[in-house]
Amino acid sequence: MNTQNYWAPRSIPPGGHSLPPLPYPYNALEPVISSNTLRIHHDRHHQSYVDGLNKAELKLVEARQKGDFALIKHWERELAFHGSGHILHSIYWTVMTPQGTSGPCTETRRQINGYFGSMDAFQQQFIEAAINVEASGWAVVIWNPSWNHLEILTAEKHQNLTQWGGIPIMVLDVWEHAYYLDYQNRRADYVKAWWQLVNWPEVEKRLLLAMRAQVPLVISNLGVAVDC
Ligand SMILES: [Fe+2]
Repeated sequence: MNTQNYWAPRSIPPGGHSLPPLPYPYNALEPVISSNTLRIHHDRHHQSYVDGLNKAELKLVEARQKGDFALIKHWERELAFHGSGHILHSIYWTVMTPQGTSGPCTETRRQINGYFGSMDAFQQQFIEAAINVEASGWAVVIWNPSWNHLEILTAEKHQNLTQWGGIPIMVLDVWEHAYYLDYQNRRADYVKAWWQLVNWPEVEKRLLLAMRAQVPLVISNLGVAVDC
Protein backbone atom coordinates (compact mmCIF):
# COMPACT_ATOMS: atom_id res chain seq x y z
CA MET A 1 0.00 0.00 0.00
CA ASN A 2 1.29 3.47 -0.88
CA THR A 3 0.95 5.65 2.21
CA GLN A 4 1.77 8.76 0.19
CA ASN A 5 -1.88 8.95 -0.76
CA TYR A 6 -2.97 9.14 2.84
CA TRP A 7 -0.38 10.98 4.83
CA ALA A 8 2.60 13.20 4.24
CA PRO A 9 4.80 13.25 7.34
CA ARG A 10 5.54 16.71 8.64
CA SER A 11 6.34 18.04 12.04
CA ILE A 12 3.65 20.27 13.52
CA PRO A 13 5.28 23.12 15.43
CA PRO A 14 4.16 24.05 18.96
CA GLY A 15 0.74 25.70 18.78
CA GLY A 16 0.30 24.71 15.14
CA HIS A 17 -2.72 22.41 15.36
CA SER A 18 -5.93 23.17 13.50
CA LEU A 19 -9.46 21.78 13.39
CA PRO A 20 -9.89 19.33 10.51
CA PRO A 21 -13.07 19.96 8.50
CA LEU A 22 -15.93 17.51 8.79
CA PRO A 23 -15.80 15.12 5.80
CA TYR A 24 -19.58 15.49 5.26
CA PRO A 25 -22.36 18.06 5.86
CA TYR A 26 -23.73 18.58 9.38
CA ASN A 27 -26.97 16.75 8.56
CA ALA A 28 -25.27 13.78 6.85
CA LEU A 29 -25.49 11.42 9.83
CA GLU A 30 -29.17 11.96 10.58
CA PRO A 31 -31.20 10.37 12.06
CA VAL A 32 -28.50 8.64 14.14
CA ILE A 33 -26.74 11.92 14.97
CA SER A 34 -28.60 15.19 14.45
CA SER A 35 -27.29 18.20 12.61
CA ASN A 36 -27.46 20.26 15.80
CA THR A 37 -25.40 17.75 17.77
CA LEU A 38 -22.81 17.41 15.03
CA ARG A 39 -22.41 21.17 14.57
CA ILE A 40 -21.92 21.86 18.29
CA HIS A 41 -19.73 18.81 18.77
CA HIS A 42 -17.37 19.59 15.89
CA ASP A 43 -17.35 23.39 15.79
CA ARG A 44 -17.29 24.06 19.52
CA HIS A 45 -16.13 21.01 21.47
CA HIS A 46 -13.48 19.75 19.07
CA GLN A 47 -12.31 23.32 18.45
CA SER A 48 -11.86 23.78 22.20
CA TYR A 49 -9.52 20.75 22.33
CA VAL A 50 -7.45 22.13 19.44
CA ASP A 51 -7.26 25.50 21.19
CA GLY A 52 -6.39 23.86 24.51
CA LEU A 53 -3.63 21.78 22.93
CA ASN A 54 -2.11 24.79 21.15
CA LYS A 55 -2.23 26.81 24.36
CA ALA A 56 -0.56 24.06 26.41
CA GLU A 57 2.23 23.63 23.85
CA LEU A 58 2.89 27.37 23.69
CA LYS A 59 2.84 27.71 27.48
CA LEU A 60 5.45 24.96 27.64
CA VAL A 61 7.60 26.76 25.05
CA GLU A 62 7.38 29.80 27.30
CA ALA A 63 8.27 27.73 30.37
CA ARG A 64 11.35 26.31 28.63
CA GLN A 65 12.46 29.75 27.48
CA LYS A 66 12.08 31.22 30.97
CA GLY A 67 13.29 28.14 32.78
CA ASP A 68 10.15 28.47 34.91
CA PHE A 69 8.40 25.16 35.48
CA ALA A 70 6.22 26.17 38.43
CA LEU A 71 3.06 25.16 36.49
CA ILE A 72 4.50 22.08 34.81
CA LYS A 73 1.99 19.68 36.37
CA HIS A 74 -0.93 21.74 35.08
CA TRP A 75 0.34 22.15 31.52
CA GLU A 76 1.37 18.50 31.21
CA ARG A 77 -2.19 17.55 32.19
CA GLU A 78 -3.62 20.01 29.67
CA LEU A 79 -1.30 18.60 27.00
CA ALA A 80 -2.55 15.06 27.62
CA PHE A 81 -6.24 15.98 27.89
CA HIS A 82 -6.55 18.33 24.92
CA GLY A 83 -4.06 16.45 22.76
CA SER A 84 -5.90 13.19 23.24
CA GLY A 85 -9.23 14.96 22.69
CA HIS A 86 -7.98 16.37 19.38
CA ILE A 87 -6.65 13.00 18.20
CA LEU A 88 -9.73 10.98 19.10
CA HIS A 89 -12.22 13.47 17.64
CA SER A 90 -10.25 13.69 14.40
CA ILE A 91 -10.49 9.91 14.07
CA TYR A 92 -14.13 9.81 15.20
CA TRP A 93 -15.37 12.01 12.32
CA THR A 94 -13.66 9.85 9.73
CA VAL A 95 -14.71 6.43 11.01
CA MET A 96 -18.33 7.41 10.44
CA THR A 97 -19.96 7.65 7.03
CA PRO A 98 -23.44 8.68 5.90
CA GLN A 99 -23.62 5.75 3.52
CA GLY A 100 -22.96 3.07 6.08
CA THR A 101 -20.99 0.01 5.01
CA SER A 102 -21.80 -3.64 5.24
CA GLY A 103 -19.04 -4.77 7.58
CA PRO A 104 -15.30 -5.02 8.19
CA CYS A 105 -12.97 -5.27 5.21
CA THR A 106 -10.56 -8.15 4.67
CA GLU A 107 -7.72 -7.46 7.12
CA THR A 108 -9.97 -5.96 9.79
CA ARG A 109 -12.20 -9.03 9.66
CA ARG A 110 -9.18 -11.34 9.79
CA GLN A 111 -7.76 -9.57 12.84
CA ILE A 112 -11.14 -9.40 14.60
CA ASN A 113 -11.83 -13.08 14.05
CA GLY A 114 -8.28 -14.03 14.97
CA TYR A 115 -8.21 -12.24 18.30
CA PHE A 116 -11.82 -11.90 19.45
CA GLY A 117 -13.08 -15.17 17.97
CA SER A 118 -15.96 -13.69 15.97
CA MET A 119 -17.46 -10.43 14.80
CA ASP A 120 -20.36 -10.94 17.22
CA ALA A 121 -18.02 -11.31 20.19
CA PHE A 122 -16.07 -8.22 19.12
CA GLN A 123 -19.21 -6.14 18.65
CA GLN A 124 -20.73 -7.29 21.92
CA GLN A 125 -17.59 -6.38 23.89
CA PHE A 126 -17.26 -3.01 22.13
CA ILE A 127 -20.89 -2.10 22.81
CA GLU A 128 -20.72 -3.13 26.47
CA ALA A 129 -17.41 -1.31 26.92
CA ALA A 130 -18.89 1.88 25.41
CA ILE A 131 -22.07 1.71 27.45
CA ASN A 132 -20.16 1.20 30.69
CA VAL A 133 -17.54 3.94 30.40
CA GLU A 134 -17.81 5.83 33.66
CA ALA A 135 -18.85 9.46 33.09
CA SER A 136 -17.20 10.98 30.00
CA GLY A 137 -15.03 8.93 27.68
CA TRP A 138 -14.59 6.69 24.67
CA ALA A 139 -14.59 3.15 23.42
CA VAL A 140 -11.41 2.67 21.41
CA VAL A 141 -10.20 -0.16 19.20
CA ILE A 142 -6.42 -0.10 19.01
CA TRP A 143 -3.73 -1.94 17.14
CA ASN A 144 -1.00 -2.85 19.61
CA PRO A 145 2.27 -2.84 17.65
CA SER A 146 4.19 -4.55 20.45
CA TRP A 147 1.91 -7.56 20.61
CA ASN A 148 0.58 -7.43 17.05
CA HIS A 149 -3.09 -7.70 17.78
CA LEU A 150 -6.19 -5.57 18.16
CA GLU A 151 -7.62 -4.66 21.54
CA ILE A 152 -10.72 -2.89 22.82
CA LEU A 153 -9.98 -0.24 25.43
CA THR A 154 -12.02 2.47 27.04
CA ALA A 155 -10.83 5.96 27.85
CA GLU A 156 -12.09 8.03 30.76
CA LYS A 157 -12.07 11.66 29.67
CA HIS A 158 -9.76 11.37 26.61
CA GLN A 159 -6.49 10.18 28.02
CA ASN A 160 -6.98 7.85 30.97
CA LEU A 161 -6.83 4.03 30.84
CA THR A 162 -4.78 3.63 27.66
CA GLN A 163 -2.18 1.00 26.91
CA TRP A 164 0.95 2.87 25.88
CA GLY A 165 1.80 2.42 22.25
CA GLY A 166 -1.68 1.40 21.17
CA ILE A 167 -2.69 3.01 17.88
CA PRO A 168 -6.40 3.90 17.73
CA ILE A 169 -8.11 2.66 14.57
CA MET A 170 -11.80 2.95 15.51
CA VAL A 171 -13.27 5.20 18.22
CA LEU A 172 -16.70 5.97 19.62
CA ASP A 173 -17.29 9.14 21.60
CA VAL A 174 -19.57 8.53 24.60
CA TRP A 175 -19.25 11.94 26.22
CA GLU A 176 -22.76 13.32 26.78
CA HIS A 177 -22.04 16.11 24.27
CA ALA A 178 -21.95 13.39 21.57
CA TYR A 179 -25.50 12.16 22.13
CA TYR A 180 -27.47 13.96 24.85
CA LEU A 181 -29.50 16.27 22.57
CA ASP A 182 -30.63 13.24 20.54
CA TYR A 183 -30.83 10.44 23.10
CA GLN A 184 -30.81 12.21 26.53
CA ASN A 185 -29.53 9.63 29.02
CA ARG A 186 -30.08 6.63 26.71
CA ARG A 187 -26.42 6.06 25.88
CA ALA A 188 -27.05 2.42 24.96
CA ASP A 189 -29.48 3.47 22.19
CA TYR A 190 -26.85 5.82 20.74
CA VAL A 191 -24.12 3.18 20.91
CA LYS A 192 -26.24 0.55 19.16
CA ALA A 193 -27.48 2.99 16.49
CA TRP A 194 -23.92 4.19 15.88
CA TRP A 195 -22.98 0.86 14.28
CA GLN A 196 -25.00 1.88 11.22
CA LEU A 197 -22.47 4.65 10.61
CA VAL A 198 -19.17 2.77 10.86
CA ASN A 199 -16.91 3.54 7.92
CA TRP A 200 -15.24 0.14 7.63
CA PRO A 201 -12.98 1.00 4.67
CA GLU A 202 -11.55 3.85 6.74
CA VAL A 203 -11.00 1.49 9.69
CA GLU A 204 -9.24 -0.93 7.31
CA LYS A 205 -6.91 1.82 6.08
CA ARG A 206 -6.05 2.82 9.63
CA LEU A 207 -5.40 -0.81 10.55
CA LEU A 208 -3.11 -1.41 7.56
CA LEU A 209 -1.08 1.70 8.38
CA ALA A 210 -0.94 0.82 12.09
CA MET A 211 0.27 -2.69 11.26
CA ARG A 212 3.34 -1.13 9.63
CA ALA A 213 4.46 0.28 12.97
CA GLN A 214 7.47 -1.52 14.41
CA VAL A 215 7.43 -1.02 18.14
CA PRO A 216 8.76 -4.18 19.79
CA LEU A 217 9.02 -4.20 23.57
CA VAL A 218 12.69 -5.18 23.39
CA ILE A 219 14.87 -3.99 20.50
CA SER A 220 18.41 -4.68 21.64
CA ASN A 221 18.86 -7.77 19.46
CA LEU A 222 17.13 -6.59 16.30
CA GLY A 223 20.14 -4.99 14.69
CA VAL A 224 18.58 -1.56 14.22
CA ALA A 225 21.24 0.81 12.90
CA VAL A 226 21.48 4.18 14.60
CA ASP A 227 23.59 7.27 13.97
CA CYS A 228 24.65 8.70 17.31
FE1 LIG B 1 -16.65 14.59 21.86
